[in-house]
Amino acid sequence: MTATIIDGQAVASRLRLDVAEAAAGLRARHRFTPGLAAILVGDDPASHIYVRNKRRACADAGLASFEHHLPADTSEAELLNLVDRLGTDERVDGILVQLPLPPQIDPRRIIAGIDPAKDVDGFHPANIGRLWSGERTLIPCTAQGCLILLRTVCHSLAGAEAVVLGRSSIVGKPVAALLLAESCTITIAHSRTADAATVCRRADILVVAVGRPMLVKGDWIKPGAIVIDVGINRLSHNGAGPRLVGDVDTVDAAMIAGAISPVPGGVGPMTIACLLRNTVVAACRRRGISDPEL
Ligand code: GUN
Repeated sequence: MTATIIDGQAVASRLRLDVAEAAAGLRARHRFTPGLAAILVGDDPASHIYVRNKRRACADAGLASFEHHLPADTSEAELLNLVDRLGTDERVDGILVQLPLPPQIDPRRIIAGIDPAKDVDGFHPANIGRLWSGERTLIPCTAQGCLILLRTVCHSLAGAEAVVLGRSSIVGKPVAALLLAESCTITIAHSRTADAATVCRRADILVVAVGRPMLVKGDWIKPGAIVIDVGINRLSHNGAGPRLVGDVDTVDAAMIAGAISPVPGGVGPMTIACLLRNTVVAACRRRGISDPEL
């Protein structure tokens, strides 16, 4: 078997166009532009790249973006103060605090300080609770991206055996909540799982988010399964620039799986597209406008 390769770049481009169209509609009919504020603390190079990409994506979709770059020695109180001010800024519909934060700042206290209505990451405890309760909420972007990609190759997820490898708050747990809401039977496997390969082999749907380069091989996969690879690992590549690989050995896995998302070009592009989507959704809900069809 050779797996269908799920084209995350194409799906993300389509979603970004749809977001741009929704934003243009809001400007024309309701006379406002949805706005996203991103806060970056310190000099983490990867975080700088993410924030720059977010700025460009907002511009392409016709959203307003506001960036706040704070020094690495910013105190928790200073950051909380900024988050608070953005909460009352009418131009701002979404607030994103780029993680990780420097060690003197407790990310949980910062996230808890974000207005849940503007929490476009979906990390606020109130929004996590709503997600697990099956209530309408702002859904964490990478998890939402995984679900959208799954739906491109599988129309009914109900009853499927889903295994999520990885239990992070950013991806593993929210993906599990979304799959449960789709009526999958879910298992969360992680670094302390006794025999992760055996657990993964029973999955009709396997989502891998562990940050271990090419951990999952073909013999971890049930024939015909759908595999979503969330990993982004930079491997140094003799002399040449770093090579990006996922948490799945894609070439090996593609001989067994029914469909697989590649790295790069799978889940990665979906995250920013879903962030733009959440910003427009948050903008509508704050104003009592019905959700755009995105
Ligand atoms: N750092 C890595 N992933 C994320 C994310 O999804 N949101 C935020 N805010 N920071 C991150």
